[in-house]
Amino acid sequence: MDAPVIDRSKLDAFVMRAVGDLSAGYGGVMVSLGAKLGLYKAMAGAGPLSTNELAARTGCAARYVREWLNAQAAGGYVEYHALSDTYELTPEQALVLADEDSPLYIPHAWNTPASMWFDEHKALEAFRSGKGVAWGDHDGRLFCGVSAFYRNAYRASLVTEWLPALDGVLDKLRSGITVADVGCGHGHSTVQMAEAFPHSRFHGFDVHAESIETARDNAEEAGVAARTRFATARADDYPGTNYGLICFFDCLHDMGDPVAAARHAAEVLAPDGTIMLVEPFANDRVEDNISPVARLYYAASTTICCAHAISEGGTLVLGAQAGEKRLTDVFRKAGFTHFRRAAETPFNLILEVRR
Ligand SMILES: C[S@@+](CC[C@H](N)C(=O)[O-])C[C@H]1O[C@@H](n2cnc3c(N)ncnc32)[C@H](O)[C@@H]1O
Repeated sequence: MDAPVIDRSKLDAFVMRAVGDLSAGYGGVMVSLGAKLGLYKAMAGAGPLSTNELAARTGCAARYVREWLNAQAAGGYVEYHALSDTYELTPEQALVLADEDSPLYIPHAWNTPASMWFDEHKALEAFRSGKGVAWGDHDGRLFCGVSAFYRNAYRASLVTEWLPALDGVLDKLRSGITVADVGCGHGHSTVQMAEAFPHSRFHGFDVHAESIETARDNAEEAGVAARTRFATARADDYPGTNYGLICFFDCLHDMGDPVAAARHAAEVLAPDGTIMLVEPFANDRVEDNISPVARLYYAASTTICCAHAISEGGTLVLGAQAGEKRLTDVFRKAGFTHFRRAAETPFNLILEVRR
């Protein structure tokens, strides 16, 4: 067979792309160090700082700080002022790297690929055996990475945009209904809703017992323990009836039998109740999911979401890029007839489902 013809410019472009990705992977370790050592926070709003000034502000060794700063400058994560030999975090960079309450804050998200690398041997084994890997069998950085990442996205949109986008739900929450937050993880969504709607009651359920304990602690810390309850339970058998709102935040696609979860929701939803389905943003076709966000989700889906669904029997393994059509099919099979895309962000699709 003839050797393939190599297009030099395509090769160069692709090598640069692959090297850029490799560089970003190294940069992620630097982002994590910068966040944990308080380097970004010390730079936020401080104007140009020398290496020694930043080292003194953070109690870190100057030689390490200098090399870290140069890595940041090389990647465009801080500005370097050559004349004064100082480094500066711009307000835009601070929103992404220093402000933990910003919806754009990124550092915690690097915990997820860290856990994926740590568990690579489990993924290799799963590919070869076809068996699953349960959510709780992953390195602990996964739970922190995912929950901290989504917490800020929820804080930016859940109470102010997503719930108001659902037909009539805001009024019901204000006057008082019982809400189920299925697959609640660390319970940030549950807590945020409980903070906003003091007359309603919020029940969080998850199969991962450790996450449920953390969710209780989070509710306690936020001062909403009295109107929240958390229990370890599966999406197809949690207790309670007559829920006015049932939420699935970024978890339906993780379940081994999402149709069973939808059927259970149909049984315990109030007659005029609403389901809010929050899922990773995706279009219906692979060719329409060619983007950095889709790449991130498909990758996490490979070793985390599909692996968990398979560990639960994998009747229907949706993956994290299921798209609206396959998601609504799940609820159609459970007898629901009303579906609407209530809102969307670059990271999430928010679907309203009713009888
Ligand atoms: C990606 S995490 C999302 C957690 C949380 N909702 C959030 O948005 O931060 C998916 C969660 O679904 C839970 N989960 C997976 N399968 C489940 C099932 N069958 N029943 C209940 N929870 C499940 C996992 O334990 C995990 O906490």
